[in-house]
Amino acid sequence: MSISSQKVAVIGLGYVGLPLAALCAKKGYPVVGLDAKEKVVAMLQKGQCHIRDEAVERLLAEAVASNNFSATADSSQISDCNIYLICVPTPVDANNEPDLAPLEGACRTVAPYLREGDLVVVESTVFPGTCEEIVAPLLEELSSLHAGKDFYLAHCPERVNPGDPFWTSENIPRVVGATSDEGVDLAARFYASILGGDIFDVREIKQSLYPKFRETEYGLHISQVPLGSVTKMHSIRDAEAVKAMENTVRDVNIAFVNELAKISDVLDLDVVDIIDGMATKPFGKGPFYPGVGVGGHCIAVDPEWLKAASKRAGYMPEMIQLARMTNNGMPAYTVSMLQDLLNDRGYPLKGTRIAVFGVAYKKDVDDPRESPFYSLRDQLLKKGAQLNIFDSWVTKENTVDSIDECLQNTKAVVIVTEHSDVVEKLDKTDLSSLGIEVVIDGRNALDGDRIEEKNVLYRGIGRRA
Ligand SMILES: NC(=O)c1ccc[n+]([C@@H]2O[C@H](COP(=O)([O-])OP(=O)(O)OC[C@H]3O[C@@H](n4cnc5c(N)ncnc54)[C@H](O)[C@@H]3O)[C@@H](O)[C@H]2O)c1
Repeated sequence: MSISSQKVAVIGLGYVGLPLAALCAKKGYPVVGLDAKEKVVAMLQKGQCHIRDEAVERLLAEAVASNNFSATADSSQISDCNIYLICVPTPVDANNEPDLAPLEGACRTVAPYLREGDLVVVESTVFPGTCEEIVAPLLEELSSLHAGKDFYLAHCPERVNPGDPFWTSENIPRVVGATSDEGVDLAARFYASILGGDIFDVREIKQSLYPKFRETEYGLHISQVPLGSVTKMHSIRDAEAVKAMENTVRDVNIAFVNELAKISDVLDLDVVDIIDGMATKPFGKGPFYPGVGVGGHCIAVDPEWLKAASKRAGYMPEMIQLARMTNNGMPAYTVSMLQDLLNDRGYPLKGTRIAVFGVAYKKDVDDPRESPFYSLRDQLLKKGAQLNIFDSWVTKENTVDSIDECLQNTKAVVIVTEHSDVVEKLDKTDLSSLGIEVVIDGRNALDGDRIEEKNVLYRGIGRRA
């Protein structure tokens, strides 16, 4: 299969699929983007981006200008493609078990069009074993072709960091695994063709690049491999595990610093100063910072997929479970801090109006999935607080129309998401003149000293009282 003459189908045009489809088009591939949501497709057909992210908007504009990109909700439009990139959600259900329905749906969409020599790549994050045990059998059954023999099945987990102006779909290093040697070669060549980087083998990284990385590590945070590079893994399961485990490492580390924040509270220490101090040690990973909770479709979800796979295979990973419980418990911790500070000023939570800033799961993105906002809001409402809610990136939960309006008639402010507009505004506002007496900074983003100068009680997560 010659890569350059291929036509690409991208299934699922969200935070992962849209920039990927646009990048492929920019690099010269004819691309059909397929999404189940008619509204998303209608916008894309007009060249409008449904995701608020400068890097994605720029890529889409370049794709439209290339005339290589089309969006559709009609699956028959992908019938003449040869490379199928699956980018559908992989959420958990109400019991935190992996919900495979979107992935299976995408396989059912692709299978009827599969022909000999085609390449199918799962980009969605999945637990180790998903491609071999679920995706391959489904595609094989519905296409009557064999993965690794008649068509190629690979996994190349996306690692894009929405809202990050530096690490984008265009340069983030990738790992790739497949069910056959030909498959991994083919997939690696395809990704190198859109990312523009070199191809490595995981064994080369251990033997040559890693020592180089260690030599230069002192004082510098650099990636182990160059921008845009593609690393071939030994197997498709290895590639699946890289993504599931790297996000779990992050989740566990955040849980651990949340624990350090609680220790700092009882020992009267400032955890942020201490983390910044620890970060001056020139080796080891991090820093990680505590906060009101962990959200998003990756860090809050992927550990559950890994845990489910491990549990099914006979080992219950208790540390992952504890990390999830710790991070899921942070909204309650934040609420109890708010309650304590309001008590100090003689106000009950019940009946007191609070300004809550932030619905998105992280700064300057428009994605609210798994955001700690929801747990925090529900707990505050259950305790009888009255809420003004504002987020300029995710507006659907807003009860007011602006930052100023959100602050009106409130006794306390809670920061859930440190969007730039909110931090900039609050750092300049005299909160005490508005009658505000308490600020709970769930992201340790505000200038606490300045707030306290005005006789307002300020607490961050794990910051000295
Ligand atoms: N969002 C991130 O930051 C990020 C980063 C790295 C990896 N991932 C992973 O990438 C995958 C996709 O995540 P996302 O954030 O892009 O999700 P998303 O919800 O933003 O986009 C997924 C799109 O797929 C569409 N879709 C669902 N089922 C479909 C089907 N059967 N056919 C066609 N379209 C379908 C949905 O309508 C939606 O527009 C997930 O596995 C996620 O864990 C996400």
